[in-house]
Amino acid sequence: MKQEIHFVTGKGGVGKSVVAAGLALRKSREGKKVLLVELGDQSFFKDFFNEPDVAFKPRELKKNLDVALWSGETSLREYAKYLIKVEALTKLFFENAVMRAFINVAPALSELAIMGKITSGPRDYGPLVPYDCLVVDAYATGHFMALMRASKGMAQAIQFGPMGEQSRSIDTVLRNQDICHYHIVTLPEELPVREAEELKSQLANEFSLRPQVILNKFLETSVPLATLKEAQKDATSDLGRFALYLEQHQERQRGLYQETQKNFDRLIQVPLFFETDPWKLVELISERMV
Ligand SMILES: Nc1ncnc2c1ncn2[C@@H]1O[C@H](COP(=O)(O)OP(=O)(O)OP(=O)(O)O)[C@@H](O)[C@H]1O
Ligand SMILES: [Mg+2]
Repeated sequence: MKQEIHFVTGKGGVGKSVVAAGLALRKSREGKKVLLVELGDQSFFKDFFNEPDVAFKPRELKKNLDVALWSGETSLREYAKYLIKVEALTKLFFENAVMRAFINVAPALSELAIMGKITSGPRDYGPLVPYDCLVVDAYATGHFMALMRASKGMAQAIQFGPMGEQSRSIDTVLRNQDICHYHIVTLPEELPVREAEELKSQLANEFSLRPQVILNKFLETSVPLATLKEAQKDATSDLGRFALYLEQHQERQRGLYQETQKNFDRLIQVPLFFETDPWKLVELISERMV
């Protein structure tokens, strides 16, 4: 079976991590062996799920659901080890001051190493990533585009040799929508919606990709409009003012929902859940990830 790769991105703080976890849980419940991948040096899920540690090597969260934290440096280290085979030489290579300086000044190298690792399954290259499905809790919008552009840029800059070849194969996998799926998380608010639309255009224009949008933290209330109007009669009371706020908020939400629906092929709406238990929240979100 071909591996599926899901990228979850969006503006900072919109709920990328919990949506990624919800999607990963959903896929694992469907019987797939799933790896939830965090990017960078610091794990969000370690604290969120109160796990002892989350590191490069996957660890089990639940049945069929593991989590790992991949950074440019750890991915590059593993890649070098795979190529060089001798641990001592890899160490020498990485602990070399010139090499370290090179890694630090070549950000695209770090992005390329991460994307190389993520796409290594479908490319059948490097150490085995034995999962049916990878769900990547990816970087926020701007940094995410840098991640996407790294392989394309490198493939254009280096036409020949293994580096050019690798970059081209990464870029090809990223554009293959039978393998890679893109999810933009946003909120029913003006700025996040604009940013989601912009990101959608960039992915469409530069990579011919059609991402899905997840409208998160949608405030769902069953209070009838008549009740809100009634409460507003006492315009100076807290309840009256709150009723007015709620009515206007729902109106804005509705408008942004319609606009988002027009702009994206696929839209998922996730409510704002009043749930503080992390697994219960992820569970509730997973039920919406159809
Ligand atoms: N649908 C929801 N219902 C209730 N709480 C939510 C929902 N979505 C996200 N949250 C909460 O909002 C906060 C931000 O979510 P999260 O950390 O997933 O955002 P993020 O986009 O990953 O942030 P960052 O950009 O910092 O990585 C968290 O406390 C999370 O529990
Ligand atoms: Mg996050």
